[in-house]
Amino acid sequence: MRRHRIAAIPADGVGKEVIPAGLRVLEALARRDGGFALDVETLPWGSDYYRQTGVMMPEDGLETLRGFDAIYFGAVGDPDLPDSVTLWGLRLKICQGFDQYANIRPTRVLPGLTSPLRQVEPGDIDWVIVRENSEGEYAGHGGRAHRGHPEEVATETSIFTRAGVERIMRVAFDIARSRPRKLLTVVTKSNAQKHGMVMWDDIAAEVAKNYPDVTVEKELVDAMAARMVRKPASIDTVVATNLHADILSDLAGAVAGSLGVAPTANLDPSRRAPSMFEPIHGSAFDIMGKGIANPVATFWTGAMMLEQLGEDAAAKALMRAVEQVCADGVFTADLGGTADTETVTRAVIAAIEGANAPA
Ligand code: IPM
Ligand code: MG
Repeated sequence: MRRHRIAAIPADGVGKEVIPAGLRVLEALARRDGGFALDVETLPWGSDYYRQTGVMMPEDGLETLRGFDAIYFGAVGDPDLPDSVTLWGLRLKICQGFDQYANIRPTRVLPGLTSPLRQVEPGDIDWVIVRENSEGEYAGHGGRAHRGHPEEVATETSIFTRAGVERIMRVAFDIARSRPRKLLTVVTKSNAQKHGMVMWDDIAAEVAKNYPDVTVEKELVDAMAARMVRKPASIDTVVATNLHADILSDLAGAVAGSLGVAPTANLDPSRRAPSMFEPIHGSAFDIMGKGIANPVATFWTGAMMLEQLGEDAAAKALMRAVEQVCADGVFTADLGGTADTETVTRAVIAAIEGANAPA
């Protein structure tokens, strides 16, 4: 029996609703598969923990997490606390502390969903956005002086390192190579930003020499935003900086039908530390506590986690179950349906249990 140790951190808002749903689905998969088991520990960290203890996670939180094979993360953010406390105290601390430098964001229009774009045929949108996740515009480099005075100044400096850009390029080229079209679009803003972004372009061209089978093209981020709307079928794998890919991936989620289904993986491809899997949608204060959050993004990221753990058959079985439930029109309100989180979760578990056992 293969055993995988999972740290579950539901944290804030609807994270507390979708992570338990995701864990039930994963348990159903493990039962169905019979070849692996999950040892799950749910950690109570997040904004409520902060209100009780003054920290988002314990001082030795990273050490605790290091003992796990993967982290299943809900969402962080609280209406009454600044993001600088909640986000930097938990999610970014884990991403940066474990050097989870590759953020992977697949986008597809799931069966039964409709893109808000006219003329999108099924299969037209099948993208993977590879987001640099350790530096760039999120490096936290800068400062603020003369606070409150008319001459107040603030800087937010983007940090691009050769090592950081090279390693994310290799991840992106590897993903592009593994997909049928073998097409990678390198997104920058190197016309206006002549240092870091030109280095991105240079390094992309260097790394490309090791991947002669991958077609590589350059696109400026503004043009890329327009292309995602106007010619979505022309895109396959995309690599971009931390901030650019943050923005493009929200657009991707929207054109695929809903942010409620969009998953992400924060990977340490060198596997020195556990990787972290989460839905993109965030804590969603407006609907938290109502039991109506869409759990599909959490299921999808659960499939990415299974893949990372080497459980490919279970990952595929999970996506088949999710696709079947979507095709059957069992949708939460964000997708125009009337189902609640519990109904969608039960439908996915039923699809898993009803499916033929994986070969
Ligand atoms: C995301 C989110 C976060 C990010 C926020 C919450 C800081 O938008 O995962 O895309 O930009 O990294
Ligand atoms: Mg974002």
